[in-house]
Amino acid sequence: MAQIIDGKAVSVAVKAEVAEEAAKLKEEKGLKVGLAVVIVGNNPASRVYVNNKKKACEAVGFQSFEYALEESTTQEQLLDLVNVLNRDDRVNGILVQLPLPKHIDEKAIINAISPDKDVDAFHPVNVGRIMIGDYAFLPCTPAGVMRLIESTGTDITGKQCVVIGRSNIVGKPQAMLLLQKNGTVTICHSKTKNLREVCLGADILVVAIGKANFVTGDMIKEGAVVIDVGMNRLDNGKLCGDVEFESAEKKASFITPVPGGVGPMTIAMLMKNTLTAAKQQAGIE
Ligand code: GUN
Repeated sequence: MAQIIDGKAVSVAVKAEVAEEAAKLKEEKGLKVGLAVVIVGNNPASRVYVNNKKKACEAVGFQSFEYALEESTTQEQLLDLVNVLNRDDRVNGILVQLPLPKHIDEKAIINAISPDKDVDAFHPVNVGRIMIGDYAFLPCTPAGVMRLIESTGTDITGKQCVVIGRSNIVGKPQAMLLLQKNGTVTICHSKTKNLREVCLGADILVVAIGKANFVTGDMIKEGAVVIDVGMNRLDNGKLCGDVEFESAEKKASFITPVPGGVGPMTIAMLMKNTLTAAKQQAGIE
């Protein structure tokens, strides 16, 4: 039976480290770390995420600047705001909550954020830096997954790592991070043939395909570390991951629950990136 990886506890530890460093920056250098969060429109899920980000800022001692814009905001207006925030010294990190309304080109907005303030690590410059292993920011979810794997004491070197999902936000950067830790990495997706056989070879399995209960126990190698990035809402209103937990926990050595696994890590890593941004902008480290 697998040990459950407590993402909430690990996220609390990460936020405590960030809060301690933020307090030191304030005391020794007079610096207050600031994160600007921009939300456009009334997407209820986005609203919840943005509120959680604001609360996390307060908890670690950051200033947060919230910009809640009307659904009808034009691309030009949003670009103008991003440019103002790029120049605002109180703002160390800028996060534009996605998805944006359909009339706004997300790529144009992401490209306008200064790479030095891009705490999501979505800007092509930061994506490129991850490819060459010379980065300041890691995308929050894959960085959180790495921290969870680390918390199990698993050495990634030489292990068979399988990532299911190839999104720009999770699957692709996740594969790069596992590769940098000397994993032997396979990326699978919805068109992969023999997915079950590939998964059965995985010592470390990261699932980010966005399909409820997609990975079942019979696809998991005995003793594998299983990380479930999925967050799906079932018809009965319950949340579930991309991994069928009950059958998977019988095979895995470690497994993340949903909720309470990867989810809480994402915001903790966002706080860490914002602290890194503040230190870099102040010429520290
Ligand atoms: N929407 C859902 N997740 C994210 C995220 O990590 N960053 C941003 N900017 N928007 C999101």
